[in-house]
Amino acid sequence: MGQEGLKFYRCNSCGNLFLVMIDPSVTPSCCGTDMQQLDHTRHSHEGSESHLPIIELHENYTEVRVGLQLHPMSSQHRIEWVVLTDGERIEVQKLGLTTEPVVRFSKMNASGKLRAYAFCNIHGLWESEK
Ligand SMILES: [Fe+2]
Repeated sequence: MGQEGLKFYRCNSCGNLFLVMIDPSVTPSCCGTDMQQLDHTRHSHEGSESHLPIIELHENYTEVRVGLQLHPMSSQHRIEWVVLTDGERIEVQKLGLTTEPVVRFSKMNASGKLRAYAFCNIHGLWESEK
């Protein structure tokens, strides 16, 4: 996996999620059709204060908070999942409605770039790096 980031694909029918790691030319399919790649060019769009993931390094773990103002978690509008990668290891956390969008991941290799991704069911994929 390079440092260009991960490619996420979502099925418009069932919401299934695919993560493409090795060959970026492949388009996965689900429910009989090609899946749509989630773009993550939303770094500076409106709404970033409640969507951009914030990566915090701690001694024994890495924490990702979604939004300077934490994103709401209701059945209509929520963060569905958060991903953190150091370029070699990838950790994925699905979020339930009862939890705040604050995730404790393993301690990552912070010598290179860390990237965090958060997916909002309404506002799509958001990416940040540290
Ligand atoms: Fe949102």
